[in-house]
Amino acid sequence: MIWDFLNEKLAEAFAEAGYGEVPAVAERSRRPEVGQFQCNTAMSLAKAARQAPVAIANAVAAKLELPFNRVSVAGPGFINFSLSDEYLAREAGALLDDPRHGAPRVQPIKLMMDFGGPNVAKRMHVGHLRSSIIGDSLQRCARFLGHDVTSDVHLGDWGLPMGMLVAEIRRRWPELPYFAPGGPTGPVDDGITVDLLNKLYPEAASRAKAGPAALEEAKQATTALQTGDPGLRALWRRMVDVSVESVRADLEMMGVTFDLWEGESDVRDRLDGMLERLTERGVAERSEGALVVQVGREDDSEPVPPLLLVKGDGSVTYGATDVATIEHRVEDRDPDAIWYIVDQRQRLHFVQVFRTAEAGGMVKDGRPALEHLGFGTVNGPDGKPFKTRSGEVMSLRDLLELTIAEARSRLGEIALAADITEEEREKIARRIGLAAIKFADLRNHRQSDYVFDLAQFSSFEGKTGPYLCYSIVRSRSIQARAAAAGFEAGELVPPSSDEERDVCLRLLDLGRAVLATYERRAPNALCEHAFELAQSFNAFYHTHHILSEADAARRASMLTLTRLVSDQLVLALGILGIEAPERM
Ligand code: ARG
Repeated sequence: MIWDFLNEKLAEAFAEAGYGEVPAVAERSRRPEVGQFQCNTAMSLAKAARQAPVAIANAVAAKLELPFNRVSVAGPGFINFSLSDEYLAREAGALLDDPRHGAPRVQPIKLMMDFGGPNVAKRMHVGHLRSSIIGDSLQRCARFLGHDVTSDVHLGDWGLPMGMLVAEIRRRWPELPYFAPGGPTGPVDDGITVDLLNKLYPEAASRAKAGPAALEEAKQATTALQTGDPGLRALWRRMVDVSVESVRADLEMMGVTFDLWEGESDVRDRLDGMLERLTERGVAERSEGALVVQVGREDDSEPVPPLLLVKGDGSVTYGATDVATIEHRVEDRDPDAIWYIVDQRQRLHFVQVFRTAEAGGMVKDGRPALEHLGFGTVNGPDGKPFKTRSGEVMSLRDLLELTIAEARSRLGEIALAADITEEEREKIARRIGLAAIKFADLRNHRQSDYVFDLAQFSSFEGKTGPYLCYSIVRSRSIQARAAAAGFEAGELVPPSSDEERDVCLRLLDLGRAVLATYERRAPNALCEHAFELAQSFNAFYHTHHILSEADAARRASMLTLTRLVSDQLVLALGILGIEAPERM
């Protein structure tokens, strides 16, 4: 990677100037007019070397040779430098033969990723949207770097909500065979659909909230279900099946895939054993009829309450299923790390669960490394969590449809190719809509909140998904027009303008952006890179008339540069889980 090369060359210059082994670091220049890069290492070295930083910078600058030019020293000791045009052309040209565009492969680890996290009988909502979008781009990024990734949707299918629904259905349709002793003997014509469950869920929840009797009933149903009542299990299976079908459709629409479709309930048979093991180890203890783990530590800056594993009524908790799932994953797949891409508001839950897993011996010597990658909230214009006009949480499906509708109407703003059919137009609207919503989410650091502003997300201008898609399409259309005119792309010649140099430089940055995304677990680094590349290309396109360039070698070179840009944007957006339309 170019950055490794720069750092090496700098270190060589420091050594040659007599400063020994110095970990020198190149950065993108903050003053592009004096050079493409800068190095501030002289400043940090001054004290140890007992020399003025300017003197160090001058001594080192004198040792910097080609491929650098415009080497200068400024201010208290900044070394400024640029890459030669020949070098830039050669390095950028080399990307043509490299489908990874310079991105390294890393030492692979076995990584499990837990994201999506939809719940049975509840429509996926905007929180699941973030988990799915961020998780999917992180899984794509880790795979691209060479890691061995297994993603798991971790369905919410085993807690009190299940008991609440069971109780609600029993109250309404007590004659269903699920409630007869021994349960049904075959398939039941019960009329259960995901829409029905979605309607029943809030009613069941408010009933349980309103009165102790209903809550008691729900708790009893939860315990009966968890301890294996065959009729309730059959009903539960039905609820899970219809829900999974709808969740799959939502995720498919978003282009998000999982290797495993496991859920909380998949550890049901190991829960008892795990609770016993934790109790024997002295990790879990009885407290007022419940089973808990004291996970607080003296040096906690805020109190961490005990993790509740089993409630007084005998039902197991979300926390217990999470701990058992760690045990299950360790036994099953022995991962090096497990990442949880879950709302930041569950931070404390994961602190409790991870500490329990450590104390329970499921984590040994820090392996698997357990990481909660929290994310912020999507807010409405009022700064509060995003809701529909009527004040409800918007379902993911409605949100996607809304975005696609917006994209559909915005397509009028650009001159679409004349021969685009109605059908193709619809396909374009879908891709643009998804690009809008995914990019708008990923461009923020995952921990930041952001405001849901569909008009801004969908704009063809600015730091948006549609802008990036449009940049790809524009670059492809230049290539198509060139081909139609019989112009061929050819070898990159040294760039002759700042705009062209900038495109070459940006092209060399993909590897660094992908690594930053992985290391910080934050796709915004890659979003930033894709945007910068598109910006530099658009500036280049506006200052250079590629198709009317008279010098055939320059024209051929510019066509290659154009092709590299569209290839790299497709690659970068692909890692973000975004697909641009073929044309517009
Ligand atoms: N179903 C949960 C929710 O909707 C998210 C699950 C996250 N993953 C986990 N292992 N706890 O909040």
